Amino acid sequence: GKVLVLNGPNLNLLGQREPHLYGATTLADIDRALAERAERAGIVLETFQSNHEGALIERLHAARDEAFDFLIINPAAFTHTSIALRDAVLASDLSFIEVHLSNVHAREPFRHHSYFSDKAIGTITGLGAQGYLLAFDYVIAALSDNLD
Ligand code: DQA
Repeated sequence: GKVLVLNGPNLNLLGQREPHLYGATTLADIDRALAERAERAGIVLETFQSNHEGALIERLHAARDEAFDFLIINPAAFTHTSIALRDAVLASDLSFIEVHLSNVHAREPFRHHSYFSDKAIGTITGLGAQGYLLAFDYVIAALSDNLD
């Protein structure tokens, strides 16, 4: 199997940025934990973070020819704003899981709507960095034909 993990704007600051909301874990910590799990499960993993909407969109365009099985995406603030990123995810034709570290539903009303959730396999919100690992566990299970 082959999995793409995309992270949107400001997530490069994880660990330093509003730690009461987003925790002390850095994006490098998350990527490392995912890479360990991927190696154990024999899955090829690619991770990509950008603060630029266009760079995320172009990464998804490239993914169209890269035979990924699943996408795990935290679109960050673009969750609530970007029809363009939504369209790129749909153009990629990838089955995806939407992850948020914080519980967006317990926060400002403008975070309650997502341009992605209605198309996701599922969403994980509020479980901190664990959310990425739980999403990855789902993907491992799905790729090995376990319960879904
Ligand atoms: C976030 C939630 C978004 O509302 C916010 O803009 C982020 C991070 C999260 O992971 O909790 O940047 O996606």
